[in-house]
Amino acid sequence: MQTIRIVLWACVALVGAGTAWLFLDSSLPGDGNDFGARFELSRADGGVITDDDLIGRPHLMFFGFTNCPEVCPTTLFEASGWLKQLGDDADKLDVYFVTVDPERDTAEVMRDYLGAFDPRIVGITGPVEEIEKVTKGYHVYYKKVPLEDGDYTVDHTASVYLMKPDGSFMGTIAYAENPDTAIEKLKRLLESGA
Ligand code: NI
Repeated sequence: MQTIRIVLWACVALVGAGTAWLFLDSSLPGDGNDFGARFELSRADGGVITDDDLIGRPHLMFFGFTNCPEVCPTTLFEASGWLKQLGDDADKLDVYFVTVDPERDTAEVMRDYLGAFDPRIVGITGPVEEIEKVTKGYHVYYKKVPLEDGDYTVDHTASVYLMKPDGSFMGTIAYAENPDTAIEKLKRLLESGA
């Protein structure tokens, strides 16, 4: 119980840290085009995915891990709801869940885990060095935190990134964002792809 509480608090703290981190980055000069990285990773549902595959369609990038006690399942559940609410428009959007715990999150583990959510959410995993390239390129914070039972959790940025078809950064949907606000942001993102 104690461990669960600590993990939950760690997740809550992370939402704050992630937001602070993002604001820090957002305050730097630039217009959001310093996002992205060259990478070659694996889709949880099979096949290879590279940065080139992201270009041409508006997309959401979310970084987390399948053992996350709260932030990731909540966000993936909400993202499934957004896709449902967008109706046919949802098919113009790509949604990616990139693991920050590739050592445990193999393609198979991610595929099983994502089975509980909208099937359009694509899991991404691969070698640690490739994941590092992506997290660095997207200004994502993450850090392994040991638990008292010898296991570990991973603190991570909790925001969902809204990316335009050209790969530039449009903004974020915050953790537990008001659902109407989230849908408005997604509609604006879809318009950017028209
Ligand atoms: Ni998480």
